[in-house]
Amino acid sequence: MSHILLIYHKDSKLYEEILSKRLPELTIRPASRPEEAIDFIEEAEIILSWKIPDELLKKAKHLKWFASLGAGNEHLIHNPYIPEYVLFTKVTVYGEMMAEYVFAYLLYFARDLSKYFLDQRHKIWEQRRPERLRGKVLGILGLGSVGKEIANRGRQFGMSVLGVKRNPESVENVDQVFSSKDLGKMIPLVDYLINTLPLTTETYHLLGEKEVGLMKEGAILFNIGRGKTVDEKALPRALRSRKIKAILDVFEEEPLSPESELWDMENVIVTPHVSGINLPEEICEEFVKNYERWVKAQPLAGLVERSKGY
Ligand code: GLV
Repeated sequence: MSHILLIYHKDSKLYEEILSKRLPELTIRPASRPEEAIDFIEEAEIILSWKIPDELLKKAKHLKWFASLGAGNEHLIHNPYIPEYVLFTKVTVYGEMMAEYVFAYLLYFARDLSKYFLDQRHKIWEQRRPERLRGKVLGILGLGSVGKEIANRGRQFGMSVLGVKRNPESVENVDQVFSSKDLGKMIPLVDYLINTLPLTTETYHLLGEKEVGLMKEGAILFNIGRGKTVDEKALPRALRSRKIKAILDVFEEEPLSPESELWDMENVIVTPHVSGINLPEEICEEFVKNYERWVKAQPLAGLVERSKGY
């Protein structure tokens, strides 16, 4: 008997196109609006989605597996329509793409690319001493699938890699792992502080004025996890009083309000939540592997741990 998958996403047809080739035995219902899903929601055993209205979800009476299209699922974690007995997985393939985002900016600054772009415009031939990434200290908040990929690349660039993890066990490619309560001990040591944290009750506003104030002169803060893990009101103050930079991809409210001071600050780069983007080919690859496990009743990869909140 064919299993039934409902894909609820604005690009559901793209996902369907890939998955119908890879999993021809699966019955796939793509939908991007509630009225397209309403006739199929009740029979769906698997839902592939990230944002789905409760009005729909509560009708999913045969749901066995909610395969989220996101890495962070704070908006779904306590959803009563995804009860404990329903398997709940997250995407774990964003790490590589998000590491590329981080290193794009690290190299951009280290090699002074903005100055060379300008020099070219003005036909200026002037060599500047580059900074090296080798020997720099990378500090990663959160050593999940994203943090680990960043650590791995940091190691390849010859950096020292430090990290903060709720349970501070050792992690491959990380020289020293700190517990969350020792965050303040790690921050002053790092040249680049990369926040990949998910939003939970424990991570809400974890980085405030005090923590940002502990950063070394010249250090760079990245936020690619969740906006609400940083106290965004305190951030402009901290960034004005310190010689540090911030590369911000996520915000407390998205899109970032045109009123926010962050847009205009010279030491801030704002990007519109793009460090990890849903690429259907990559996400389907992970889904297919998990589906093959699911039909054999094997444990799924990327299970959300509801008690931890991510
Ligand atoms: C996007 O931010 C995600 O968590 O997948």
